[in-house]
Amino acid sequence: MWCQRKGIFLFFYILSTISFILTCFLLYKSAHRDNVSNTNIYNVPAMTSDKFVDKFRNTKVKSEAETLISATSWMKTETPILTLFTSWLHRQDKYVVQNRTVQNWKYFWPHIRPVLFTNDTELGDICRQQGWSILPLTHTAIEGVPVVKYMYLDAMLHFNSTFYGFANSDIIFNDGLVNTLLTIRRFTDIYRDPVLITGIRINFDYKIPYNATDMKNISKVSEKGKLANPMSADYFITTRNYPWWKMEEIVIGRFQVDNWIIRFSQLEKIFVINSTPTVIALHQTTEAGILESGSKPNKSYNSVLIQEVRKIKINTQQARVGCAEFVTNFTKHGHIELMRQPLSKQC
Ligand SMILES: *[C@@H]1O[C@H](CO)[C@@H](O)[C@H](O)[C@H]1NC(C)=O
Ligand SMILES: *[C@@H]1O[C@H](CO)[C@@H](O)[C@H](O)[C@H]1NC(C)=O
Ligand SMILES: *[C@@H]1O[C@H](CO)[C@@H](O)[C@H](O)[C@H]1NC(C)=O
Ligand SMILES: *[C@@H]1O[C@H](CO)[C@@H](O)[C@H](O)[C@H]1NC(C)=O
Ligand SMILES: *[C@@H]1O[C@H](CO)[C@@H](O)[C@H](O)[C@H]1NC(C)=O
Ligand SMILES: *[C@@H]1O[C@H](CO)[C@@H](O)[C@H](O)[C@H]1NC(C)=O
Ligand SMILES: *[C@@H]1O[C@H](CO)[C@@H](O)[C@H](O)[C@H]1NC(C)=O
Repeated sequence: MWCQRKGIFLFFYILSTISFILTCFLLYKSAHRDNVSNTNIYNVPAMTSDKFVDKFRNTKVKSEAETLISATSWMKTETPILTLFTSWLHRQDKYVVQNRTVQNWKYFWPHIRPVLFTNDTELGDICRQQGWSILPLTHTAIEGVPVVKYMYLDAMLHFNSTFYGFANSDIIFNDGLVNTLLTIRRFTDIYRDPVLITGIRINFDYKIPYNATDMKNISKVSEKGKLANPMSADYFITTRNYPWWKMEEIVIGRFQVDNWIIRFSQLEKIFVINSTPTVIALHQTTEAGILESGSKPNKSYNSVLIQEVRKIKINTQQARVGCAEFVTNFTKHGHIELMRQPLSKQC
């Protein structure tokens, strides 16, 4: 009798233990799954990488963004937060697009200083009249195409700002750019170390009418566009201490310039931040199409160069924005937060 009772007791004991463990497991699984779907932006399964500096590992850093979002607060910054530069050739078919870029980048003054690298005095004069700064192109490679690193080094030599960035001349930004940079600047722990902030553009037909100095209009119009290839990146914003001096002499406007900047940063253990969710970067797609660099001579210039110098092939699965260690996002209240990005195995 007693033995039987003990048996029943033992039976229930074991049963409850098993169901407890099962419940824990299921709870963990569902929590984990929720986590994946919530943080999944580019269909990247959640997985924390051990590859990078672990200073900020598993920390979800929230911004105190109340003061950042209203336009008036960012009017108070003294030196520009960003020196944003580009370079283009005088080309009739691109005139409309570039004219909008000139208006759009100038809109952000005094927070952003727009700079055009050109040796064309006529083009320089037009842009200077529109409030841009002009710098000569000191280093070019094949067919006079600018070498990326010297644009950064020259910009840093001539202008003071917290960040320095290159973007193609057909990219229109919204004010998410300034707000995102202001948020990142508040994390002094992060930006004291070198940082790369990069993102994917939204392709849309340049014939769709829009107003390049009306931020609400840009947001609305961007809904008609489509996020570009996740293997690409269209702007590269770095801090002054980013080791541009070490960078290979890759050029703009040719394949894989984007992938190598990201891969180089990963290899140098630089904090890479994916700012796609909080920055609208409209690419005004013209007749030349979205793969413009593919139609140019020496289109593989950059990948051939990296293969020669580093003896490696650039793995685009690794060297993409989705493999950035951090990602920006809007909170429910419209503030910007910075958090770890879930990384896939390919990263
Ligand atoms: C971004 O924020 C929204 C709410 O504002 C949330 O639903 C979404 O899951 C967040 N994305 C990530 C990657 O955390
Ligand atoms: C370029 O922009 C300026 C200023 O908005 C405008 O006056 C001019 O007409 C534009 N030119 C073209 C060709 O769109
Ligand atoms: C542009 O001008 C600078 C000096 O102003 C010169 O050093 C450089 O070689 C020129 N670049 C090109 C591509 O002509
Ligand atoms: C940048 O700032 C430093 C110190 O704040 C100053 O010494 C330097 O002259 C400035 N450079 C430019 C180009 O304004
Ligand atoms: C954006 O602005 C353009 C030019 O002012 C206008 O034609 C268009 O209707 C606007 N679009 C939206 C969605 O507000
Ligand atoms: C574009 O938007 C700005 C700011 O809202 C406004 O001042 C300007 O008149 C608009 N331009 C056109 C052509 O609608
Ligand atoms: C660039 O392309 C031209 C024409 O196709 C070729 O003659 C030249 O060797 C190429 N230069 C480099 C550095 O690849």
